[in-house]
Amino acid sequence: MAADTLPSRPDPLRALLRRMPKAELHLHIEGSLEPELIFRLAARNGVKLPYPSVEALRAAYAFTDLQSFLDLYYAGASVLLKEEDFFDLAFAYFERAAADNVVHAEIFFDPQTHTARGVPMAAVVHGLAHACQRAHAEYGISSALVLCFLRHLSEDDAFATLEAALPHRQHFIGVGLDSSERGHPPEKFARVFARARELGLHLVAHAGEEGPAATIETALDVLKVERIDHGVRCTESPALIERLARQRVPLTVCPLSNVKLCVVPDLAAHPLPALLDAGLCATINSDDPAYFGGYVVDNYLQLFAAHPRMGVQQARQLALNSFEASFVGAEQKARWARELDAVIERLAG
Ligand code: HPA
Ligand code: ZN
Repeated sequence: MAADTLPSRPDPLRALLRRMPKAELHLHIEGSLEPELIFRLAARNGVKLPYPSVEALRAAYAFTDLQSFLDLYYAGASVLLKEEDFFDLAFAYFERAAADNVVHAEIFFDPQTHTARGVPMAAVVHGLAHACQRAHAEYGISSALVLCFLRHLSEDDAFATLEAALPHRQHFIGVGLDSSERGHPPEKFARVFARARELGLHLVAHAGEEGPAATIETALDVLKVERIDHGVRCTESPALIERLARQRVPLTVCPLSNVKLCVVPDLAAHPLPALLDAGLCATINSDDPAYFGGYVVDNYLQLFAAHPRMGVQQARQLALNSFEASFVGAEQKARWARELDAVIERLAG
């Protein structure tokens, strides 16, 4: 919203960034929990919050690094107890996604954050899956769920979580790896990712957000992931950039997140334009929009506002990359690409 008031970019480009069809591939559903909904669910579930008001909670969203964010993110999730809470959470995200012309979303969820508090796995998965179905019916948005293991917990805990989720196998398409990167490298989860691979699940992992470029290589070579979440620290290794470009390994980049968690000093210093120039399949995503000040279109608008040389060509490439990087079939990707070009023709042709 604030980005719409940024004066520096022409209106047609802003309209295109908003209206073009796009996929969102890096979105933690718990990170879309807005303070207003936290208070509403706390009241509904009789949970006492350590903040007197929505404003006081929002004022606490000033982060110095990933861990300082995660502490608040896990605390916020404590109001999610029942299946309908997970439905309300996810459906609220889809309302925002529809407004941003997201046509497809691959959504992370962190079951361990909930099962550790006694919430049944079935309540988590059914609530989220129900919202995915409703979003398809009401907005035509297709979506899929990706189960993330919390990397600060043990690999045994990840195995137990995968086991507990298997009765709901039809409701998720893959596994991912999130939470504190420092001290918890990809190889800690080599066996559970091998098991997920045997089960035919898609594999992704956060790497190269706070961890060095080498962790991106480990995620690819040891975990055998198909996409890297974040990955911005690949800029430290020209050889890795060359590999990512050659192999078309998608990076799900989250510009506002990187600024809020001090991964980059500001959007003007963000490496995404350079990664696009280098031929990488980089995409724009919102990560935890309720905490980082914007949903996916805000990420596009603010990044483009900070990089005056980005224009229609980069907008088109980013939308195409988001389709290419998604786990949908080639025909659907081609259909979205045609829709994209029709919108470009109408707004910027
Ligand atoms: N990084 C790691 N873990 C996370 C993130 C992130 O950006 N968001 C939610 N969990
Ligand atoms: Zn993330």
